Amino acid sequence: MKKLILLFTVIFLLSNCKTATKNKKVTGLIAEKAMVVSARKEASKIGSDILQKGGNAYDAMVATHFALAVVYPVAGNIGGGGFMVYRNNDGTKGSLDFREKAPITAHRDMYLDSLGNVIKNKSTLGAHAVGIPGSVAGAVEVYNKFGSLPFNELVQPSIDLARNGFIVTKKQANSLNNATKRFEKVNNFKTLFQKEWKEGDVLKQEELAQTLERIRDFGKNGFYKGKTADLLVNYVTELGGIISHKDLEKYKAIWRKPITFNYKDYTITSMTLPASGGICLAQILKSVEPFNLSEINHNSTKYIQLLTEAERRSYADRANFLGDIDFVKVPMDSLTNKNYINKRMSSFSWKKATPSSEVSHGKILGYESNETTHYSIVDQFGNAVSVTTTLNTGYGSKVLVKGAGFFLNNEMDDFSSKPGVPNVYGLLGSEANSIAPEKRMLSSMTPTIVEQNGKLKMVVGTPGGSTIITSVLQNILNVTEYNMGMQESVNQPRFHHQWLPDIIRMEPNGFTKETKTNLESLGYKIYEKNSLIIGKVDAILVLPNGQLEGGADPRGDDTAVGF
Ligand code: DON
Repeated sequence: MKKLILLFTVIFLLSNCKTATKNKKVTGLIAEKAMVVSARKEASKIGSDILQKGGNAYDAMVATHFALAVVYPVAGNIGGGGFMVYRNNDGTKGSLDFREKAPITAHRDMYLDSLGNVIKNKSTLGAHAVGIPGSVAGAVEVYNKFGSLPFNELVQPSIDLARNGFIVTKKQANSLNNATKRFEKVNNFKTLFQKEWKEGDVLKQEELAQTLERIRDFGKNGFYKGKTADLLVNYVTELGGIISHKDLEKYKAIWRKPITFNYKDYTITSMTLPASGGICLAQILKSVEPFNLSEINHNSTKYIQLLTEAERRSYADRANFLGDIDFVKVPMDSLTNKNYINKRMSSFSWKKATPSSEVSHGKILGYESNETTHYSIVDQFGNAVSVTTTLNTGYGSKVLVKGAGFFLNNEMDDFSSKPGVPNVYGLLGSEANSIAPEKRMLSSMTPTIVEQNGKLKMVVGTPGGSTIITSVLQNILNVTEYNMGMQESVNQPRFHHQWLPDIIRMEPNGFTKETKTNLESLGYKIYEKNSLIIGKVDAILVLPNGQLEGGADPRGDDTAVGF
């Protein structure tokens, strides 16, 4: 009996202790001048060192990008693509699209069998899933426009890191061990990743070091032409894929006008199509804007209800209208028009959930681990960059280019293989996002910059597939409406709704039983299983005194480094 009382006392104390830590205000790294927040300490440090050497945010972007390709192979990449939104210290803003595109010989029905059914795994696993990579073109384009230090100095730290190795973390060892079977299945040789990994192992990647040397010496041509291109094309061809030299030679990163809109007295700048992030974020925030959030508690039933209903309507539009603007006409202005949005929200009722139309249900969670990565940088001159980059799912297609040591993406799955059939994130698409030669697949990536009174306020973004948009949204609201610091905001439990499937995904243990019961009684379905995590947000907040606060997501190994 005594033992039992003791046990209950310990449990009671522990649970109180948990509540106490939950309520304690956490603060992230504070820096005076400059900061890089990324998925790995090594990459943030390489970026920050470049800043300390006198480089600007763009130099740091290049260095951090290549470093993540080495130290975070699950999503950091040279074989993938992404988007960058920037704001210079003079207030000018812009964005770069270095998204992958479909091969020249790709076609609309390339993932369908003779009966018109989607062939399982063809758009996710192996050489057929690969889009033409954009990352190296993107980094070189950023450098050519804005870089200040010699290019080789930006790439060299990553070459050294690849050659000399880095220490594998526990999370990383687990992730690699989970993927080993698929590396084996897809490749026709034994990759260096196929072993039993444990925390503390050193990962050296000599072939990747040599590929990075070619990029260091020849820039874009070090990847899209010459030996790297030969290795890539030959290997993909050997595996039955359709990428050609011409595909690589023709690849170009594109500067685009970002989506900029106001939310109350904030100006928000985010990525435009082919990333859906900017449009959806604008739609959702404008749907929420007329409501008085100061009277609605954070993460309460009402809060979740309001965001869910706004998200539901926006994701339904996403599925219908959005695709690569170089290929399809998208009514961007109408979609983000206030009257249109108010009309969409007019069917919202506090009394019950609006059911999503009854179409086929999407997959909830892929068998894959979902991995993308985001990094945020502010330099000592006041320039800011927000970059989200990905191979799509963890380690992309699992194809590791033989002799070149890098993974290729499986971004082709972000196209709609067939209307009504969901992709790996459960997202549906229409003709607007169907496959066509050289078209870019629709993305959810949402690299974002927030300004207040014309000054930089926040740099934010995250991985998370379809949940990217809603995670960025929640962090913007945490800071602007609920006055949270950056780390405090990043740590908050998150939820997500995407129209279909008609469920609210919630991070486990993040929401009270009462909130969930209330939601259920209003007709919402809640999905809160596994060790579900929603996003890994890496963000920077400019504090009122001008200092920077990092928000590095504890859900991963993410780290802020600055000075
Ligand atoms: O572009 C997209 O929306 C997806 N390929 C992103 C994938 C992703 O975020 C996976 N991560 N967690």
